[in-house]
Amino acid sequence: MEQNFIIAIDGYSSCGKSTIAKSLASKLNFLFVDSGALYRAVTLFFIENELETADEAKVNEALDSIMLAQLADGLETRTFLNERDVSSVIRQMHVSSRVSKISALREVRHFIVNKLQEIGRSQSIIMDGRDIGTVVFPHAHLKIFMNARPDVRAKRRYAELMAKGENISLSEIMDNLLLRDQHDTTREESPLVQAHDAYYVDTSDLTEDEVLGLIAARYREIVDNS
Ligand code: DC
Repeated sequence: MEQNFIIAIDGYSSCGKSTIAKSLASKLNFLFVDSGALYRAVTLFFIENELETADEAKVNEALDSIMLAQLADGLETRTFLNERDVSSVIRQMHVSSRVSKISALREVRHFIVNKLQEIGRSQSIIMDGRDIGTVVFPHAHLKIFMNARPDVRAKRRYAELMAKGENISLSEIMDNLLLRDQHDTTREESPLVQAHDAYYVDTSDLTEDEVLGLIAARYREIVDNS
């Protein structure tokens, strides 16, 4: 393939996007980019520096002092905020409950979209997020839009956080998830919406292998026809 191949995986929170994106990236030898982790890292910066989000000039000033990086670490990806590894802390609830608000800021979105587009210029990637196929890479070679029933998503997230030793109830997770769905789909700046040319996959009743199989078949079709 002469050009970098871009696979965009968008969809609702906790429907399995990053698990699938990681496996596929390792199968295809593409770089996996977790765009949500960058929004989470910026959110962490805002929390730690007690930044006011209403002041546009202050937000821009803050963004000027943020350096983000993502590095592959086996199947995992590590996220760095000003050279500090924040991969674990950005998954905690205090970040999850603020990230929708911070990621809705126009300046924050411009900052991260530029960063994501820069990454896609240098190599073939699989990027997961909310606006990858609509805004970041509208000409992506393959676009997937994933969803699952809210109860299934909440249970998956619960299991993940329990495994990490977080002390949180299923109902707190469900509340956060539904609130994020609402914010992500109704915000003014690039809301979560299915691209018209995205392939829709509902993962509620599918195993990881089944989802992978569907997407890998779609990928093959595109490669064979190009
Ligand atoms: O994928 P995630 O749940 O880690 O993402 C965290 C938040 O970041 C999510 O609630 C919405 C926001 N996000 C976004 O607005 N655009 C993206 N491309 C990725 C994430």
